[in-house]
Amino acid sequence: MPMNSPEKNGVGKEEAFRPKIVAFCCNWCSYAGADLAGTSRLSYPAEVKIIRVPCSCRVNPTFILRAFGRGADGVILCGCHPGDCHYTTGNYYTRRRMTLLFSMLDYLGIERERTRVEWVSAAEGAKFAETMRDFVATVTALGKNRRLEDLRCRN
Ligand code: FES
Repeated sequence: MPMNSPEKNGVGKEEAFRPKIVAFCCNWCSYAGADLAGTSRLSYPAEVKIIRVPCSCRVNPTFILRAFGRGADGVILCGCHPGDCHYTTGNYYTRRRMTLLFSMLDYLGIERERTRVEWVSAAEGAKFAETMRDFVATVTALGKNRRLEDLRCRN
């Protein structure tokens, strides 16, 4: 193959789309669930970048909008099951806020499937891995998120 052929330079090759996924995980349940998935050697896609937060209610909805603005194709928020929050009622606030955010995302024209809330306990490593695999597959099928992309954040 000649040195400057299109295949050698990567020109003309179609790269498979790999979505950027941000996962906010509460420290007490979901992050521990992710840890359990790791120690149990359950694999989940490397596209998922975890951000550990003290509680799911620490996630202000603007964090999610900002993640989309900075190039995320999907954002998932994981917390303790309702009734199990380490801070008693944090995830109830999360649930209400996310309901409002979903309506706002509908209004903005962002596909609902790009954002998800999931309750994952510290004992649910398998659920964590399965949820991430499913979410990545869903976002991959949707393709790149361009609606909220902040063009100043492009590489
Ligand atoms: S500590 Fe996990 S949701 Fe509040």
